[in-house]
Amino acid sequence: MEGSVPAVGSARIAVKKAQLRSSPRPKKLEKLGVYSSCKAEGACKCNGWKSPNPPPTPPRTDQQSNAVNLQDPCRSCSHTLGDHVTHLENVSEDEMNRLLGIVLDVEYLYTCVHKEEDADTKQVYFSLFKLLRKSILQMGKPMLEAHDNPPFERPSIEQGVNSFVQYKFSHLPSKERQTIVELAKMFLNQINYWQLETPSQRRQRGPNEDAAGYKANYTRWLCYCNVPQFCDSLPRYETTQIFGCTLLRSVFTVMRKQLLEQARQEKDKLPPEKRTLILTHFPKFLSMLEEEVYSHSSPIWSQELLLGSTGLQIPIHTVISASPVARPLYYSPSPIQVEIASCGSVSPARKMVSLLEMSTVGEKRKPSEPLPHEDAKRQRVVGDIPQELINEVMATMADPAAIPETNLLSAHSARDEAARLEERRGVIEFHVIGNSLNQKPNKSILMWLVGLQNVFSHQLPRMPKEYITRLVFDPKHKTLSLIKDGRVIGGICFRMFPSQGFTEIVFCAVTSNEQVKGYGTHLMNHLKEYHIKHDILNFLTYADEYAIGYFKKQGFSKDIKVPKAKYVGYIKDYEGATLMGCELNPSIPYTEFSVIIKKQKEIIKKLMERKQVQIRKVYPGLSCFKEGVRQIPIESIPGIRETGWKPMGKGQGKELKDPDQLYSTLKTILQHVKSHQNAWPFMEPVKKTEAPGYYQVIRFPMDLKTMSERLKSRYYATRKLFMADMQRIFTNCREYNPPESEYYKCANLLEKFFYTKLKDAGLLEK
Ligand code: ACO
Repeated sequence: MEGSVPAVGSARIAVKKAQLRSSPRPKKLEKLGVYSSCKAEGACKCNGWKSPNPPPTPPRTDQQSNAVNLQDPCRSCSHTLGDHVTHLENVSEDEMNRLLGIVLDVEYLYTCVHKEEDADTKQVYFSLFKLLRKSILQMGKPMLEAHDNPPFERPSIEQGVNSFVQYKFSHLPSKERQTIVELAKMFLNQINYWQLETPSQRRQRGPNEDAAGYKANYTRWLCYCNVPQFCDSLPRYETTQIFGCTLLRSVFTVMRKQLLEQARQEKDKLPPEKRTLILTHFPKFLSMLEEEVYSHSSPIWSQELLLGSTGLQIPIHTVISASPVARPLYYSPSPIQVEIASCGSVSPARKMVSLLEMSTVGEKRKPSEPLPHEDAKRQRVVGDIPQELINEVMATMADPAAIPETNLLSAHSARDEAARLEERRGVIEFHVIGNSLNQKPNKSILMWLVGLQNVFSHQLPRMPKEYITRLVFDPKHKTLSLIKDGRVIGGICFRMFPSQGFTEIVFCAVTSNEQVKGYGTHLMNHLKEYHIKHDILNFLTYADEYAIGYFKKQGFSKDIKVPKAKYVGYIKDYEGATLMGCELNPSIPYTEFSVIIKKQKEIIKKLMERKQVQIRKVYPGLSCFKEGVRQIPIESIPGIRETGWKPMGKGQGKELKDPDQLYSTLKTILQHVKSHQNAWPFMEPVKKTEAPGYYQVIRFPMDLKTMSERLKSRYYATRKLFMADMQRIFTNCREYNPPESEYYKCANLLEKFFYTKLKDAGLLEK
């Protein structure tokens, strides 16, 4: 898909940067020497060390693999490499890494300058190239010209579109309004991914009124939005947040035409649930918006509509936060070889993103796409792993070669992995089917129902065959069936009770020669997703003695969460079987769950590897035990502290092992906190209407009511989870509110009180 190419491009640069950061210091000096002026006495004018063995043009960043040393002479001035890097002698590793990041951006821009054919664009690339070179020479921060800083127009495109939604659709019922918000999000995301046409392309299309104005905006867009997507040493902004109606007017007509054309082309590929949205609602939305965009009297661009909070403000989150992103540098021992030169074929400008993809932006991000730097502004809570670091690791994982193909027979592969792959390859299929009295089911469905009846009869010999037949063919029951080679090999027969909030699983079986291959697990995962779609979040089943183990592995327990009154008289009772229940979490994509966990494990593993590379020390084994010592304090093990291990001491505390004791201790603390005189701002979730833009700034909201609910549902399995949520309340508050505000003070006072209470309860050491 076109839109994903640049993401991969920027990911490659990130990988390359990470590699360089983890290389040894001489290699780094060599790289920086190329961009550092000669400091040799006698006022040498040389502005960068040139290798005696010249690299090809354009330079490839992986070149110069032959080790050079500081004594090697410069091809231009004959002074040594050492003479060019004396200023870096006492420079910290972090600063070196920052400069190296700029070096790679410079090299990337160099290839862009060479490949770009459009004169205006080439000129901008060249200016940015010079700017970055200068900042390496001067060891400064790349700063674009101060007299032309973003935002360039107010209200921004995002604010204008937000006002449009309010102005035209605030009267709609919430569900329909939600659809409009979805369309608005889609549109804004399209602009943020949109490649502006060059000023000369625009001129060729026909005369336009404000050619100079467009060129100025195009240059700004390249400098602040487009190039920084690749060269992250430059501050990055979002198009919709720093430009206003002028830019929108200059692109809207062409953009609308192309979007509609694209929708038509992608029509057959669109998922059914997105079809109406994209093919019917989106064109209408664009027409209505077009009217407001080009009308000079439209209120959507007036400050009053923007400021006059009508209580109907609909926050529209774009993919990426608009704030300039200052990214810290991290080490990366990434083993993947990616040539930055190969990115040269990819223009830094993004192309149009498929509507198919855009329609899901904001809901689901492609796993390979590096996460945006949405939380750069967010103050981090202790224990958070920096997003940038995760992005870096994800970038290394985007390359399939980075993760070895799991051996399906390996002990580490998930139970359902083989089944999931088979489904992807089309070997197996899953269908929810049932009999109907209104409509004659087609022949293959009837055949499958008979097949299911057979599988159940064979696998559940204690169930009377007639009884199985009756339920499988009963129109109130449905069966999720597993089909292989056109034949039923397993299924789960169920009956939904939407009014009671649960579904009864009646029969579940896989044919004997296909058991223990993961089909049972994958079937259950599909059933879970099917129910989440239908808003039923509880399963109940009478599991027979031999199947209890299987159900337990699928998340069922004997501890039933559905109130008895809800199911007694509804569910069939089976003698000798055990009632088990499973509560579904609607935010879990169950069929992908094990893949996600695997990926997360992989991330943790890579983070650990990085840490190990940073430490780079191997200590000899302990010999004291041979000499009769039986026990030593952990902190006396050489190197243990460098791994990040901390002794239990200040800031640490005792974890209560007994869940009931932990529950009642946390309950008491929470009650104390809630009754505190400074707790009032935090009692309930922040209302969007009272705090404009709150949910755009605060990504992980938390409040005392939510905490009470979490406590009640036994979510706080450890004191750390509880402390992290509470800490989040205070951190969020301090992030959103100014220090002199009442809220900020309340957060400080309540935080102090909270920590006193933790200490009193023995959960934190005094
Ligand atoms: N007891 C304990 N564990 C089991 C059992 C069992 N009877 N059956 C499967 N498992 C385990 C597997 O070993 C596997 O564990 P692992 O991931 O740790 O290796 C896990 O459960 C899931 O295995 P799958 O391969 O995904 O499941 P399978 O395709 O074998 O299907 C099923 C499981 C449906 C229970 C199948 O074994 C079967 O048809 N059994 C006979 C019929 C039956 O007992 N049905 C349930 C009756 S109760 C009722 O229908 C409401």
